[in-house]
Amino acid sequence: MKTIIANLKMNPTSEKEADEIFNFYQEEIQKFNRVNLIVAPPYIYLKLAKEKGLEVAAQNCFYEKSGAYTGEISSLMLKDLGVGYVILGHSERRSLGENNELIAKKTKAVLENKLMPILCVGETKEELKIRENIIKEQLKSVFSLAASDRIIIAYEPRWAIGTGEFCNPQTASEIHQFIKDFIKDEFGINNILVLYGGSVDGQNIEIFLNQSNIDGALVGGASLNKEEFAKILEIANSK
Ligand code: 13P
Repeated sequence: MKTIIANLKMNPTSEKEADEIFNFYQEEIQKFNRVNLIVAPPYIYLKLAKEKGLEVAAQNCFYEKSGAYTGEISSLMLKDLGVGYVILGHSERRSLGENNELIAKKTKAVLENKLMPILCVGETKEELKIRENIIKEQLKSVFSLAASDRIIIAYEPRWAIGTGEFCNPQTASEIHQFIKDFIKDEFGINNILVLYGGSVDGQNIEIFLNQSNIDGALVGGASLNKEEFAKILEIANSK
């Protein structure tokens, strides 16, 4: 069974629109029983998505449980809300200054509070030549602090995010295998889920999901487009 995560990023801008998109996901998912859909809206719409019966992920969280951390949300609060997953280390957060060390601390806290981290890794265009080393460092910093088979990995080449320039599916498959082998060899963890993210749409999803080591997709822009997203779910369900 493939996993599709809809990362809504900082969208939509009203609760009314959020309600509409959640109703759409709800209707779509009822048509399929062979795809695992997780919706990652902004924090303020998590409760609403949950009330619609959707499986939900937060897009970030802080590593402390509570305290004087203005503007932060803890994984304990997310747990209390019924959130099952937290995206961590997304490239858009790395661009805002998050480093491997901070992401590792957040991952540890999320695991301690019994939520599942969705850990994003991936290289920039300038790092393409040293891609494996970059990914190894990103994985190593997290797994050395918090090794767990409950971590979902998302391989998101940073140059492919929101650009329409998606990774060659064969290359993505090789990187997925590299990630799985590295986690197994270094940390003794088998069967880790690895999803692909970066300009996934209704056209290219099939070639990605045809690769047996690509366990699903982390979808940004196309998750806000009903036609595209319906196609993605339908294809994922058929794999
Ligand atoms: P796009 O699908 O818009 O490229 O975004 C991918 C992403 O960042 C998902 O987390």
